[in-house]
Amino acid sequence: MKKNTQVITFGIGLLLACRLVVDCPAADEHPRAESEKPSRTEVGFNADWRFLKGSPAGGEAMAFDDAKWVRVRLPHDWAIAGPFQRELNGQFGKVAWQGVAWYRKHFQLPAEAKGKRVYLDFDGAMAAPKVYINGKLAGQCDYGYMSFRVDTTPFVNFSGENVVAVSTDTTAHGTRWYPGAGIYRKVTMTLCDPVHVAQWGTQITTPTVNDHEALVRMRTTVVLNLPPAKTRVTLESILLSPEGTEVGRTRSEATVTGGLHHVFDQSMTLKQFQRWDLGQPALYTVRSMVSADGKLCDTYESSFGIRTIEWTADDGLHLNGRRVQLKGVNLHHDHGPLGAAFYRRAMERQIEILKDMGCNAIRTSHNVQSPELLELCDRMGMLVYNEAFDKWRGDGPKADRDMVHKTLLDFVRRDRNHPSVICWSIGNEIPHVEMNEVGNAPELVKLFTDAVRLMDPTRPVTLGCFISAGLDKGIHPFIDFNDFHYGRHYVAAKQAFPNRPSVYSESASAISTRGFYKLPLPKNKKDYAVEDLQIDSYDLNAAGWADIPDVEFQRLEEDKYCAGEFVWTGFDYLGEPTPYDGGMVKEGKIITGQTARSSYFGIIDLVGIPKDRYYLYRSHWAPEKTTVHILPHWNWPERVGKPVPVFVYTSGDEAELFLNGKSLGRRKKALGLPTFNLDPYYAVIDKYRLRWMDVPYQPGELKAVAYKNGQKIGEQTMRTAGVPAKIRLTPDRSTLVASGEDLSYLLVEAVDKDGNLCPLADNRVEFALSGPGTIAGVGNGNPQSIDPFQTNQVKLFYGKAMLIIRSLSNQASSVQVTATSEGIVNDKVQIETNLTKPEIP
Ligand code: GAL
Repeated sequence: MKKNTQVITFGIGLLLACRLVVDCPAADEHPRAESEKPSRTEVGFNADWRFLKGSPAGGEAMAFDDAKWVRVRLPHDWAIAGPFQRELNGQFGKVAWQGVAWYRKHFQLPAEAKGKRVYLDFDGAMAAPKVYINGKLAGQCDYGYMSFRVDTTPFVNFSGENVVAVSTDTTAHGTRWYPGAGIYRKVTMTLCDPVHVAQWGTQITTPTVNDHEALVRMRTTVVLNLPPAKTRVTLESILLSPEGTEVGRTRSEATVTGGLHHVFDQSMTLKQFQRWDLGQPALYTVRSMVSADGKLCDTYESSFGIRTIEWTADDGLHLNGRRVQLKGVNLHHDHGPLGAAFYRRAMERQIEILKDMGCNAIRTSHNVQSPELLELCDRMGMLVYNEAFDKWRGDGPKADRDMVHKTLLDFVRRDRNHPSVICWSIGNEIPHVEMNEVGNAPELVKLFTDAVRLMDPTRPVTLGCFISAGLDKGIHPFIDFNDFHYGRHYVAAKQAFPNRPSVYSESASAISTRGFYKLPLPKNKKDYAVEDLQIDSYDLNAAGWADIPDVEFQRLEEDKYCAGEFVWTGFDYLGEPTPYDGGMVKEGKIITGQTARSSYFGIIDLVGIPKDRYYLYRSHWAPEKTTVHILPHWNWPERVGKPVPVFVYTSGDEAELFLNGKSLGRRKKALGLPTFNLDPYYAVIDKYRLRWMDVPYQPGELKAVAYKNGQKIGEQTMRTAGVPAKIRLTPDRSTLVASGEDLSYLLVEAVDKDGNLCPLADNRVEFALSGPGTIAGVGNGNPQSIDPFQTNQVKLFYGKAMLIIRSLSNQASSVQVTATSEGIVNDKVQIETNLTKPEIP
């Protein structure tokens, strides 16, 4: 059996009430009548924090002198600034992430806060955050990935100075990847009347959805932070269409004793409605208006979607009545050079790149993700396999069970209104649970899954499994799926449990380095380019337990009962640099140590540049789009006259390849072609890619013309590049919101005098900025690099790198970005920053 099975312990301290907030308060999204105006306000609480790495004695005290602490803006991952250290463990990113760090912020409350509840809502802090208000412990959370609310009301000064101090401590945090450190997600201050909708206090379901009507059920929990007297509470719920017009309204009343809470249960039927779907993610809103003794106290908005999801045993997943093949990816939570710091735009960009590839689903491997990820998936039409944990102890101490149980309840409560969420997962590959080693695994799995079902009876609950020998060990009757990883193990599960749905929640684990090609081609999937410490990008390599993409495509085409796959992984991530994660043995000798810092698994590299594999997936997953992609590059001066294999990834079924205008033949996708010198394992690739194995290399122009059903669909040309002559900067966005949080990703490339990409260039490029922007990170996707991310220079890696610019808050102007590299022509671009509100995608 492969790899370590390190156990993570986690728990929960005081998880207090909280609610989801978007960058733009939902309250502004739809016009309201004066009588519907909210008394709740939500403001970003991310600017002007002070930070110290260490454990200052008395750091929580109000009078503590923090004048010399570093000024930071949230989100903040203190560990990602590095430095990377070769001797540190590559499994966790080769950066020192363990330690204690403190954050402090001085603030005053606005006059209108008087008489209100004052909540601080943390989307996530790594790890074990303790929140002190004016020297007193006001709240804490033991699971670094979980969102939590701190009720500061009993501790704050409503007039005068306040200090919030937050300690974070990653020393006891167990992990199998780079977890990040500090307050790495945003914080919001929520002010509301003592009578208000509770944290994550609405549960919106659609028990009936058919062609004629949709029944919308709203269970709304109202909290009364009042002395114990009877209060007449009214809840008026207004249903708003995706366009923001009122399509329904209902009103209920109850008499509730102060100090308690009340759950209202309301329903409305819509005769005409729009469904939430992948191509058309229509989002409805419930506006919940709470009044106490006739006075409007709170207005709270929740978005939801109307759709049907049906998991079938024999025909996969049905969304709104039609089969949808899951073309999914696993995602870890880091964003490469940004570390774990969560920026909404960074996530939105990832989803855009994935959608372009034809991906329609994300598995949040293996932890609670930022709430904004789910909002984006709702808005952009992406399905989510929502996973709470990686491995857990499962050895039975009651405390552990209670902690897990409590975290799970809040996790589901937080995320259950999102139409993008299609299932819940309580964990990932827990061998001692799968094998029931301690004897209590069935009982524990039942406890976990029941907790999820209690909070959301509408979606199935699963556990990502990998040991089919555990199928008869007693846990499987308590989960709803055949959910097995790698090696088509779901087949054994289907045989054991034929009447339940199957999903392949981890597939592939193919590995490659963007831009790196090594000849001769690998002899087998584990024949890695160890001398270079990289992995060949002809896409013939995979981890030992895993397979190349084509093998999985073929399996899933045969196994239509299986709902589809979640590839390991969409993007490269920090940590787990298989196979360079330990000593590698070749011919009896250890030839590498732990050299790499980030993974090779991604379809897309660590900075978001697609690898060749991206186009293989795009060809298969998005057949309606035209893809014609040639590999490798065409700069092989040492191989003139010698053969170079050329592969073409295309959504067509045929292509003709030309070298310097001369046809090298037309090839058609088909099974049963000669394998040449490749292992028979690779026979399947000819169904999904086209290859010309022995193209005698001559510099010049390589062109592929692709056809589908005999019709030309497109072509791609690749030219041998000359020496690097110029740096080219290509920003993904040239206008940013001056919010302090908006990002532009600038692709940095070296090109020759004719503008051809120089695929072997490794020039060092330096950046200078003027205007209201700052460098959020740089990187080049090289898993072996230990160059810092938070600096003003980067070395190109196979011709490319990335510069990430962040806008500064409240400064509308333009940012000039200059890239210089010794001996070649510079480039300069301008990014505008303006004060318009962030657009919600
Ligand atoms: C899986 C595991 C993932 C990752 C992957 C790499 O077994 O669930 O977290 O380690 O292997 O192939």
